[in-house]
Amino acid sequence: MTPLNNLCNFRVKKQYYNPRCLIPAVSLLLLVVILTVSNTYFPFPTTKSRTLSYSSFSSSHGGQKAADEACNIFRGEWVPDPDAPYYTNDTCSVIHEHYDCMKYGKPDLGFVQWRWHPDSCDLPRLDPARFLSSMRGKTLAFIGDSLARNHMNSLICLLTRVAEPTTSWPSSEHTVYHYGGGYNFTVLSFWAPFLVRNELIDTDRPAHTGLWNLYLDEPDAVWASHVPAFDYAVVSASSWFYRPSMLYEAGRLVGCHHCLLPNVTDLTLRYALRMATRAALRAVVGGGGGVTAVLRTVSPSQYEGGEWNKDGNCVRTRPYRRGEKTLQGVELDFHTLQVEEFEAAKRAVTASGGSGGAVRMMLMDTTEAMIVRADAHPSRYRGWTRRKGWMKEYFTISNDCVHWCVPGAVDAWNDMLSHMLLTSQS
Ligand SMILES: *[C@@H]1O[C@H](CO)[C@@H](O)[C@H](O)[C@H]1NC(C)=O
Ligand SMILES: *[C@@H]1O[C@H](CO)[C@@H](O)[C@H](O)[C@H]1NC(C)=O
Ligand SMILES: *[C@@H]1O[C@H](CO)[C@@H](O)[C@H](O)[C@H]1NC(C)=O
Repeated sequence: MTPLNNLCNFRVKKQYYNPRCLIPAVSLLLLVVILTVSNTYFPFPTTKSRTLSYSSFSSSHGGQKAADEACNIFRGEWVPDPDAPYYTNDTCSVIHEHYDCMKYGKPDLGFVQWRWHPDSCDLPRLDPARFLSSMRGKTLAFIGDSLARNHMNSLICLLTRVAEPTTSWPSSEHTVYHYGGGYNFTVLSFWAPFLVRNELIDTDRPAHTGLWNLYLDEPDAVWASHVPAFDYAVVSASSWFYRPSMLYEAGRLVGCHHCLLPNVTDLTLRYALRMATRAALRAVVGGGGGVTAVLRTVSPSQYEGGEWNKDGNCVRTRPYRRGEKTLQGVELDFHTLQVEEFEAAKRAVTASGGSGGAVRMMLMDTTEAMIVRADAHPSRYRGWTRRKGWMKEYFTISNDCVHWCVPGAVDAWNDMLSHMLLTSQS
């Protein structure tokens, strides 16, 4: 296997080395540049000792099935789980350094010992043996930014308790994890932070943040050409949309987000995310074959006590209680538009007969669970791929309150995903 230490997204990489992006503009825009620009993959060492034994879970399926289907698994609260974690940085080798809080010394690991408990049913922890046997012969794709990768890392780690995949990199924006040995399950991870075709057209304008062209009705070919292979696709994106961009539809400029040009209408980042989400969902369900399209809602970033690049941080050691913290501002708008676009896409699938029931759509509304987990971000306890000059300096002052520690609260996304895919499978 070729060691691939720093397989980067080349389009993104350009930004790092361009001296004109050196001026730290204090804005939310750059926060997102910093925290989502990383697209490095870990090499995949194959031999590691397993120290955690697999504990079995009572299955809530079978007799309880009708109750599960009626249960809203996204409304609930976090309850203590003294058995967690179910893997560590020593038992899972795929954890990206940005999420590897154990390795980088997060002092209070109490944040790991919580599980998500819906109000009207139990949500069992993902049972890796059962999950893998249900996924035999299937392909699951993650499409999105570094939070999609965060989600995927957690899934691979949870499964590591019974099987390890072989890993390959068909391109710099595409990783394949294959479970052989009778499992024959494939996880595809696509780097598509805007979901749609995009290009960086200026690394400096309009405010030292860079300017992108987004083709809002053209799903990114990085993943779109693989749609026929998907049995399940988890689509998520939002954080890169803070970046200034020129917006195109049908190849024509229709407006921009924060381009600061007097003659171009500012349609806002909400419009851009809405249209990109619409295009992505259409491409997934329109692929011809049977597919389950899952849209995951916005993952909140949670800086407290200051700005992201100054003294803002996430140092809590316990979850908030329900209702103590709610989604606000742009993130609330993102959530609203994601739910609207999901509902519209689902109506369209239903109206068209959904390929005789072969196309299914599921909303994965993780936002309410995560808004109360300011304790589960890496803060400063994560690695950074070493950069030269200003980037190094820049990284050392920023705390990461955007991504999620692995293991940690993000594992609940896979408890939810497993419940969604397996409960409704038959
Ligand atoms: C896991 O984290 C511990 C610190 O908690 C560290 O000593 C150890 O080297 C890490 N293991 C790996 C494989 O990185
Ligand atoms: C593995 O699954 C694929 C479908 O994803 C199928 O085409 C192939 O025949 C399967 N291979 C084995 C060995 O079962
Ligand atoms: C807007 O104005 C700039 C500078 O005057 C010009 O270069 C650009 O072509 C104009 N764009 C549009 C869409 O009219």
